[in-house]
Amino acid sequence: MSLIERIKEKAKGNVKRVVLPEGDEPRTVRAAAIVRAEGLAEPVLIGSAEAVRAAAQKVGADIGGIGIVDPVTSPKAVEYAAALYELRKAKGVSEEDAAKLVTDPMYFGIMMVKTGDADGLVSGAVHTTGDMLRPALQIIRTRPGMKVVSSSFLMDCPNKSLGEDGLLVYADCVVMPCPTAEELAHIAVAAADTARTLCGVEEPRVALLSFSTKGSAKHPLVDKVREATEIAHRLAPELLLDGELQFDAALVPEIGASKAKGSPVAGRANVLIFPDLQAGNIGYKITQRIGGAECFAVLQGLAAPCNDLSRGCSVEDIVNTISITAVQAQ
Ligand code: ACO
Repeated sequence: MSLIERIKEKAKGNVKRVVLPEGDEPRTVRAAAIVRAEGLAEPVLIGSAEAVRAAAQKVGADIGGIGIVDPVTSPKAVEYAAALYELRKAKGVSEEDAAKLVTDPMYFGIMMVKTGDADGLVSGAVHTTGDMLRPALQIIRTRPGMKVVSSSFLMDCPNKSLGEDGLLVYADCVVMPCPTAEELAHIAVAAADTARTLCGVEEPRVALLSFSTKGSAKHPLVDKVREATEIAHRLAPELLLDGELQFDAALVPEIGASKAKGSPVAGRANVLIFPDLQAGNIGYKITQRIGGAECFAVLQGLAAPCNDLSRGCSVEDIVNTISITAVQAQ
């Protein structure tokens, strides 16, 4: 069974309510119909009922039984506006601003999750990553014990000798452009947690990547990765974690053995931490496009699961992301 098949089986075991702010977007409507028919989650579509039904009719999706919520006419809007005002007044949001913001499907959806009216949210078929992330960061905020929100990409590689039977977890590829050493350490610990809880990896082995292995190069960028490794050790002493390691030293047993002798991780890492967003984002796309890996993005560290789609996503991508979100919510 592939990674995503395992995740879907898990989603069916405890069905969660996932809200879709882009409720009148054709791929989203089709995905919602599939998710409901297969019992992967209980989707809720946000938008005017007229627009959502028109979109469904156009693509031939059966959305019977799926909840539709219009932020402009919903009786919940007043409650959400009041809660949003309380949460953001210190940041200069007025009552008027809050009332206006909740008519925006993204903010309305985030408030559904914040107040517990939904268990998770998936968006991004139309909105950019920043449009989706900002309200999630401002309102859902970090889970207790988590310093930052970041992301992991679950890379299901055709070469099953890599990582954990072909699974590699890459972080951070979406959120933090230039993490400090401390933030990088938190990303490493969060990615290990994602590997364990979402992917069922019993022993995460975390490599903090660099262009240097164990002092082979000297540069302030390398020092940052070494410092992050030390901090991560202190944050999670039980975790198998090492750095700084080059990509090949982290993955290839012979190279790991020769460049980082005695490392508990080198040559057999299954969680790879990239030093910044440029490296992480480029790295996952190379693995996907040249390496032929299937990849799935998840946000980690939020107090409730919200996940982003690529604007080029397929209906299947949306179904997969809803399933992942549902499992994170369990
Ligand atoms: N974790 C927790 N909270 C955060 C984080 C974080 N990583 N980043 C920002 N915040 C908080 C801030 O503290 C702030 O809170 P406050 O308003 O209560 O003070 C709030 O979120 C907003 O922060 P800003 O600094 O105003 O937001 P910013 O403009 O920095 O945007 C964003 C944050 C959207 C995450 C930005 O860092 C970004 O654009 N990241 C890159 C996204 C991207 O384009 N990724 C690549 C494409 S995705 C792909 O290819 C799959």
